[in-house]
Amino acid sequence: MDTPTPAEDILLHERLEGTALLTLHRPERRNALSRQLVLDLQHALDALGPDPDVRAIILTGAGDRAFCAGADLRERESMSDAEVNEFLDQLRTLMDTLAQLPKPTIAAINGFALGGGLELALACDLRIAADNATLGLTEVRLGIIPGAGGTQRLTRLLGPGKAKELILTARRLPARQALDIGLVNDVCTPDDLRHHAIDLADEIAQAAPLAVAQAKHAIDEGSQRPLHEGLDIERQAYAPLLHTRDRVEALEAFRERRAPRFEGR
Ligand code: COA
Repeated sequence: MDTPTPAEDILLHERLEGTALLTLHRPERRNALSRQLVLDLQHALDALGPDPDVRAIILTGAGDRAFCAGADLRERESMSDAEVNEFLDQLRTLMDTLAQLPKPTIAAINGFALGGGLELALACDLRIAADNATLGLTEVRLGIIPGAGGTQRLTRLLGPGKAKELILTARRLPARQALDIGLVNDVCTPDDLRHHAIDLADEIAQAAPLAVAQAKHAIDEGSQRPLHEGLDIERQAYAPLLHTRDRVEALEAFRERRAPRFEGR
């Protein structure tokens, strides 16, 4: 008989200055996405999204085996069709919330990122992986398909040819190969992963938060459109920045030869 981890412990929250770090904490289940974990993640992201003190969000997994082994296959066994459909809706909302956050998100992939685990990482802006990590959308070998955005986000990231290769074979890709094809942005040792993710978040936090949000928006909204539409989106994303205090601060800081102090307004 399984002993479920208490709900309050399955998602750990840390705050490191402007960076929020969320750790999926079900190591005994390889951080699989149970219904409760999906709800907890949704709740956490709903709170972090509008928080002006949060400039970047890092997602990682507890333990040294897995970032996230995907949907909780044990829980799935006892779920009715209606419950599975409800779960898929909740996953959709979660992944959309994550992808649309107006701040940068980084997946620090500390081991296996399979199925919904990789889909979670794909909904982040950047992915860095420990060199012993393994990534894959393995669903077709379970008689299903990626159901949390994988067929769409992997395709947008890598193109249909590579996405089909990985999804149809359900291949489990070592981190170095994932780096070679652009599935992850960087690879480091497992011991360095946490610091590397925090350094990356800090690097982004040097920039003006509203500019970062608008740049992310322009890329996400425009990249699948014809160029002229994408350029219109870029221009629209630029416009509100002209009236920000941070833009004035950047110009003043440049004149005074000092680092700008951005406030996100
Ligand atoms: N859902 C629920 N439980 C899971 C799980 C998942 N997705 N993945 C792993 N677990 C559980 C295992 O059942 C096992 O439980 P037990 O100790 O009670 O037997 C425990 O986590 C450890 O798993 P184990 O396979 O022994 O660990 P490992 O480190 O050798 O391998 C994985 C890890 C992730 C490679 C392997 O567990 C795996 O392939 N899991 C399925 C991943 C998958 O196909 N996900 C797609 C879902 S759509």
